[in-house]
Amino acid sequence: MEQALMREASLAPGVRMLPTYVGSTPHGNEQGNFVVLELGASGASLRILWVTLTGIKGQRVEPKSQEFVIPQEVVQGTGQQLFDFAARCLVEFLDAHSVGNQGLQLGFSFSFPCHQTGLDRSTLISWTKGFRCSGVEGQDVVQLLRDAIQRQGAYSIDVVAVVNDTVGTMMDCEPGVGPCEIGLVVDTGTNACYMEEARHVAVLDEDRGRTCVSIEWGSFSDDKALGPVLTAFDHALDQASLNPGAQRFEKMIGGLYLGELVRLVLVHLAQNRVLFGGYTSPALLSQGSILLEHVTEMEDPSTGVVCVHTVLQDLGLNPEASDAELVQRVCVAVCSRAAQLCAAALAAVLSHLQRSREQQTLQVAVATGGRVLERHPRFHSILQETVKLLASECDVSFIPSVDGGGRGVAMVTAVAARLAKHRRLLEETLAPFRLSREQLEAVQTQMREAMAKGLQREPSSLRMLPTYVRATPDGSERGDFLALDLGGTNFRVLLVRVAEGGVQIINQVYSIPECVAQGSGQQLFDHIVDCIVDFQQKQGLRGQSLPLGFTFSFPCKQLGLDQGILLNWTKGFNASGCEGQDVVHLLREAIRRRQAVELNVVAIVNDTVGTMMSCGYEDPRCEMGLIVGTGTNACYMEELRNVAGVAGDSGHMCINMEWGAFGDDGSLGMLSTCFDVRVDQASINPGKQRFEKMISGMYLGEIVRHILLHLTSLGVLFRGQQTQRLQTRDIFKTKFLSEIESDSLALRQVRAILEDLGLPLTSDDALIVLEVCQAVSRRAAQLCGAGVAAVVEKIRENRGLEELTVSVGVDGTLYKVHPHFASLVAATVRELAPRCVVTFLQSEDGSGKGAALVTAVACRLAQMARV
Ligand code: G6P
Ligand code: BGC
Ligand code: BGC
Repeated sequence: MEQALMREASLAPGVRMLPTYVGSTPHGNEQGNFVVLELGASGASLRILWVTLTGIKGQRVEPKSQEFVIPQEVVQGTGQQLFDFAARCLVEFLDAHSVGNQGLQLGFSFSFPCHQTGLDRSTLISWTKGFRCSGVEGQDVVQLLRDAIQRQGAYSIDVVAVVNDTVGTMMDCEPGVGPCEIGLVVDTGTNACYMEEARHVAVLDEDRGRTCVSIEWGSFSDDKALGPVLTAFDHALDQASLNPGAQRFEKMIGGLYLGELVRLVLVHLAQNRVLFGGYTSPALLSQGSILLEHVTEMEDPSTGVVCVHTVLQDLGLNPEASDAELVQRVCVAVCSRAAQLCAAALAAVLSHLQRSREQQTLQVAVATGGRVLERHPRFHSILQETVKLLASECDVSFIPSVDGGGRGVAMVTAVAARLAKHRRLLEETLAPFRLSREQLEAVQTQMREAMAKGLQREPSSLRMLPTYVRATPDGSERGDFLALDLGGTNFRVLLVRVAEGGVQIINQVYSIPECVAQGSGQQLFDHIVDCIVDFQQKQGLRGQSLPLGFTFSFPCKQLGLDQGILLNWTKGFNASGCEGQDVVHLLREAIRRRQAVELNVVAIVNDTVGTMMSCGYEDPRCEMGLIVGTGTNACYMEELRNVAGVAGDSGHMCINMEWGAFGDDGSLGMLSTCFDVRVDQASINPGKQRFEKMISGMYLGEIVRHILLHLTSLGVLFRGQQTQRLQTRDIFKTKFLSEIESDSLALRQVRAILEDLGLPLTSDDALIVLEVCQAVSRRAAQLCGAGVAAVVEKIRENRGLEELTVSVGVDGTLYKVHPHFASLVAATVRELAPRCVVTFLQSEDGSGKGAALVTAVACRLAQMARV
């Protein structure tokens, strides 16, 4: 067992330890009507039940049921014959019980070793017992049943769950001295299931909770353990069976084999003249002539002797009185061994549980089912006694199942039906986030139109602001510069040395408290100057008036390189008295107020521009800048002739698109989900930056949080229980998306991240949260890609090129940290702009370096003008 759980390769094919995807024993509140189809538990018959679960503990409604005998030619015919037979029986049953045809949900009890990959996906590994239908091994039996039901065409039935008979038995059971966590079946075949610690099951990526494992102990065949036990009769039986070499353990215990073992012993004794005066009969010599029923009857303490005579006479034998006693002793020996072996196996399960749960005394209930356990006069008591002997440290109560586990199957079905409904609701919720190619093309087209209008100064949600940056650096720039970098996660002051060998940067990060970012403009700029003074002191730069470039990552209308009027704050900033003002002027005022420093502000630069310049210093093909961080935006080199309002017709100018505001005229309405609306409404700038709010880091976590709230209200997450934590704004940071979506992360780590947030969830919940994160970040990356595609296509068309090769400088935490964002952007661009070969360069030094380079270029040009 332990080797199989850990998937350690063992030489002997042992027990299989198959996960069943049943994660908990019943809650007792499951309810509804379910059809249960049982195949394989009781020989060549099939049982159909109509089970009603009331949802109230202890309140049972008697199920309706009907048994159908499967003809021998079907049991060993083709799979299609078998499943068609089952589907016909279903129709007959449903017709007879007039249960209607509305939303029938079926649980399939299929008692053969199967590889399950979900509650409704199960591949038959191999037939056992008397079954051998062709074309089923290796196939998903749920699908085969669905197909057969569809071929009948009479009812629409949803096959929701598939379970082993042991699982149905366990799930049906009320707790005894302890919880019922083991299901044991001894019928035609034998097997057990139990609740295992999920962390012990290597194939499951889980470290908490329990999961039901079907042991499939029938295939136990360890030589060392079984060798001394196997007799010549066992070998003979195995050789003549349908599956020689397989299910060796089962062949000593299962009801299909007990009668046959008795028969082989009787033949042996007769042939050695110990029985029947040395005579046999043709019937005694034919395989299968003694059945479990015969053995059970013959062992009956009160009527057994009479039965022995009848059975033997029916076999054409003429027993004497001493024969009858011997035959009974044979039956006792065969069945006692079976019960004792079964007990040994069960004791192994119990002591494994006791040890792995580190309990002094394990208190547990075992649900039992199957005809051998139910009908054989002593099997049950021998089992109990032997278990007591072998697992004395466990306090075990045996609880016989009431109706063969049918209700248990219905309970699993109820859980599976609930999960399937949840999946549907999840899909419906996430559908608007899954954008089609057509939708992305529409975004690209709209973006192109808005760009053209913005450039021409016609009404457009894209402002297309001229930056007065006309060229990327040519490498001849030199000198020391100061730079400020305001508007992303960090506020930075930098000293940038542009020298022959390259660029050297010393920088320091300062915090901008929210109260300052949202206080008065004067406070904000005073704080900035204080930081500069501090930096100058630390770097020994006091008294020097170095040229300064100011990366200011907000929409500004520039009238020149050193003049930028703040149009409106974005992201988390809202300092009063700044909108409509020249930011350079506000900075100079603050410098004047402080009288502490002398600064020569040369240029104001958007972060997109800074990033483009910084990457352009390394790669002259870099003609676009892209930011996907707290906010999002792009800039690119446009032909001057296309830019209204700036003098000159030749050459280029970098345009700050301010694409975060794309769609603020309502044009993105179709794409906007109710969650986007909620995030927008709760922001400090409702109705503004609608594109940004679907893409950037400041908002994705919030979108996810709103979806999670919605799914909780639908009962899909957290068992429908709203937590206070999740109601808290900004509790779900965008960095969690990056962490949760990281490929290297196991689901259990996802859960740990969320538990740190105070969200106690199951692994089903964790999977749902992961899917939500993926849907939200994927849409963001695709929208961003559609924007980039619009821009590079415009550059290509501007230049009348068949094909454009261009680089894009990129910065921003989301783009850099998220595990899939960058590749999704690139893939979208390849799809939507197939004639552009686009290389994405990640900026390493932030846009402060770019601001210094813009300043350097300006200084160089100014110097040239003076000369
Ligand atoms: C750049 C700049 C920041 C800019 C940021 C965007 O490198 O130096 O000023 O705004 O990246 O990223 P973030 O994730 O910090 O918003
Ligand atoms: C099957 C098991 C089943 C058991 C009892 C065995 O032959 O492989 O899946 O639980 O019989 O029906
Ligand atoms: C601002 C842009 C900036 C972008 C990225 C947006 O909110 O409006 O100016 O480039 O964020 O930081």
